[in-house]
Amino acid sequence: MKNKISASLMCADFFNLKETVKLLEKHNVDYLHIDIMDGKFVPNLGIGSDCIKALKKHTSIPFDYHIMVKEPDSIIDLLGIRENDIVSVHYESSSQIQRTLDNIKKYNCKVMIAINPATPLCVLEELIYYIDGINLLMVNPGFAGQKMVDNCKKKADKVGRIIRKFKRDDIIFEVDGNISFEHAKMLKQFGANMFVAGTSSLFLDCNLEQNIGKMQVALEE
Ligand code: DX5
Ligand code: ZN
Repeated sequence: MKNKISASLMCADFFNLKETVKLLEKHNVDYLHIDIMDGKFVPNLGIGSDCIKALKKHTSIPFDYHIMVKEPDSIIDLLGIRENDIVSVHYESSSQIQRTLDNIKKYNCKVMIAINPATPLCVLEELIYYIDGINLLMVNPGFAGQKMVDNCKKKADKVGRIIRKFKRDDIIFEVDGNISFEHAKMLKQFGANMFVAGTSSLFLDCNLEQNIGKMQVALEE
């Protein structure tokens, strides 16, 4: 599977969103990572449904929704999910997570489980049959610009091993939070194949075009 870049939109300059999205298109960035938050599951607010609708009208880049909302079933119909999109929901966010995963599948999109730094990885052994991918958080989600939580490097290694144990080489293994160029290279070795690029890489020093190139090189090497 080709390594994919998912540009974290919450890290973009909102005053220049149109120019940013055009540049991401021009350089064939694979996904727009859309952080959706409710101020309860995580202590922040993310990108709202009207903003998503406006964006959907003007870009053909597929969306990589990262839903950080308590009981996400109540909001998924507001998001304009399409077939080529990806949706991840947190294990702890739903009282019946398998039902939630099934509910999202009605859009024929790819569905992923999001794993926090302290979520036990044994849950993957139960859920792996129902998912197209794993979004492994390298930080506690909610805010851009955080440092990778210490144990997450080991955790990424373990996730790679679980994927191999279940012979799921088709699976999307996304990593999210503090994905610098260096961290991307390191995580790629554990089998990560989709990289959320935020303030640690693409949106560093307002040099988007150059940073896209640097990330593409880091993922090819
Ligand atoms: C964390 C968010 C990420 C984050 C990634 O809650 O899901 O999308 O913005 O960017 P940086 O590089 O700032 O961690
Ligand atoms: Zn995210």
